[in-house]
Amino acid sequence: MIQQYDKYKQEDHAVWKILFDRQVDNLKDKASAMYINSLNTMSTVLNANQIPDFRRLDDFLLAKTGWSIEVVKGLIPVDDFFELLSNKRFPSSTWLRSRAQLDYLEEPDMFHDIFGHVPLLINEEYSDVMHHIGKLSKTRKYDKAFVQIMERFYWFTIEFGLIKEKEQRKIYGAGIISSFGESKAIYSAEVLVKPFSIYDVVNHDFTKSEMQQEYFEIDSIAQIRDALSYFENMI
Ligand SMILES: [Fe+2]
Repeated sequence: MIQQYDKYKQEDHAVWKILFDRQVDNLKDKASAMYINSLNTMSTVLNANQIPDFRRLDDFLLAKTGWSIEVVKGLIPVDDFFELLSNKRFPSSTWLRSRAQLDYLEEPDMFHDIFGHVPLLINEEYSDVMHHIGKLSKTRKYDKAFVQIMERFYWFTIEFGLIKEKEQRKIYGAGIISSFGESKAIYSAEVLVKPFSIYDVVNHDFTKSEMQQEYFEIDSIAQIRDALSYFENMI
């Protein structure tokens, strides 16, 4: 499948611009420096002006860290997902929410997949972690308990992870980065944020349909890289 860029209408580009501008402004004091730097670095191919053209994104990503985008219709089976990561392919849908749906989505759209996930792929340390998650999950794909561990790990780090930067709570998880509401909510008193712990994360179930009740905060990307080494040595 490929992105059929010519099919996007003016309205789609206008919705993209609303989402992009609103969230960049909102994330100024909330997103991790790692994310903001990466987004700024990609500004020629990923910006508010128009829906990104995946061919241009691919050229940029391939030159930086060797990633590229695999167009998918929507959510894909977990084995296929990890297989793609093991090949440095990141799955993205090509549809975009409507103006009436700016803040409610049943399935991830292109704004989540691209704005939320793709910028960090040009960060080398993060890119290595993503690649490692894919390779490790793929080699143990017949071990369902292990795959579940990797799914939970991915969920509470890559999708919904927080990071402590200069003693402040910052966001790097793509699910929060791409959500106007959730990126504000993680600063509310009702939200529980725990220091990242392998034990807590792998024993924590999650639902995709509701906002998270608990989040895990890392000190650095090295912490999740070390967790992967731990998983690698698990029997
Ligand atoms: Fe995601």
